[in-house]
Amino acid sequence: MVTRYKIKTLTEFIIERQSEYPHAKGALTRLLNDIATAAKIVNREINAAGLVDILGYEGKENVQGESQKKLDVFANEQFITALKGGAECCAIASEENEKIISFQNEFSELGKYVIAIDPLDGSSNIESNVSIGTIFSIYRRKTEVGEGGKNVDILQPGINQVAAGYVIYGSSTMLVYTTGKGVNGFTLDPSVGIFCLSHPDMAFPKEGKIYSINEGNYIYFYEGLKKYIKYCQEIDKETSRPYTSRYIGSLVADFHRNLISGGIFLYPGSKKSPSGKLRLLYECNPMAFIAEQAGGKASDGYNRIMEIEPETLHQRSPLFVGPKSMVEKAEEFIQEYDG
Ligand code: AHG
Ligand code: MN
Ligand code: MN
Repeated sequence: MVTRYKIKTLTEFIIERQSEYPHAKGALTRLLNDIATAAKIVNREINAAGLVDILGYEGKENVQGESQKKLDVFANEQFITALKGGAECCAIASEENEKIISFQNEFSELGKYVIAIDPLDGSSNIESNVSIGTIFSIYRRKTEVGEGGKNVDILQPGINQVAAGYVIYGSSTMLVYTTGKGVNGFTLDPSVGIFCLSHPDMAFPKEGKIYSINEGNYIYFYEGLKKYIKYCQEIDKETSRPYTSRYIGSLVADFHRNLISGGIFLYPGSKKSPSGKLRLLYECNPMAFIAEQAGGKASDGYNRIMEIEPETLHQRSPLFVGPKSMVEKAEEFIQEYDG
């Protein structure tokens, strides 16, 4: 006989979890639902990307001087539209916009939350049909309700996050998120367009066997990191070395694989770019929150990512994230040799 289990949908799950927060009035629930809805629309477009005229460049550059792909722009618009109309979110900081987008309408001005978002992560992989993602981070606003959100509402350290998550548009599409009580993953059933709980209580394996880094930049790495890479490649049965090297070039996809299979992701500072490449507010902090909630660790080599005080919207930070033991080993090398 085939045993059938009742499927729990994302909506059911977040409503159920809302009762764990005694003062919650459902605003965060609605916010997560809005994000999930926009993610489904983005997913639909990504799936059809080869068929419609949406691959390729938009012809503009974003604030980091990177060419915007059409899908970057499309995804950005979808998330902004989904969040603008509601009474939950008063501002968004997006990778694709130089300044925050402050929602100035009678509903949104009452919103208690702000969102930092990377609408499309790993855009260089779009053309080749490789996994890409969306990363988001939610904070409670600092200013009083009644006006659009301001920079101070967004410029908060990661420890203030109330929720964070990512969507991976991969061989299947998943939404993974935390509100500070563990990490749960939902897979999109494309036939009905519903995210279903598929990965409850996600946690990093204690010890990993994967290291993920763009080794093409080796020549620019500092000494400690070079030594750590050699450490990953040495033979040692007890610690399952040499590790396997895996690098997709989409933070979401690399992180997701490492969370499931056990591995460390590294995007270091280097002689070429001392602060690395990844952005603190909408790449490092949300991944750090998820990592810690999954029993892992996230560091810039010296400090806990979530304790860094942000000064600017698009500020970058080195990122070392994964199982605690692996991140601590990388930190040891960096701190010993790189000062
Ligand atoms: P985005 O597409 O949002 O600009 O992010 C790309 C990021 C990140 O996803 C990935 O980990 C990293 O860039 C890859 O960078 P390299 O190509 O330098 O390895
Ligand atoms: Mn990104
Ligand atoms: Mn992006």
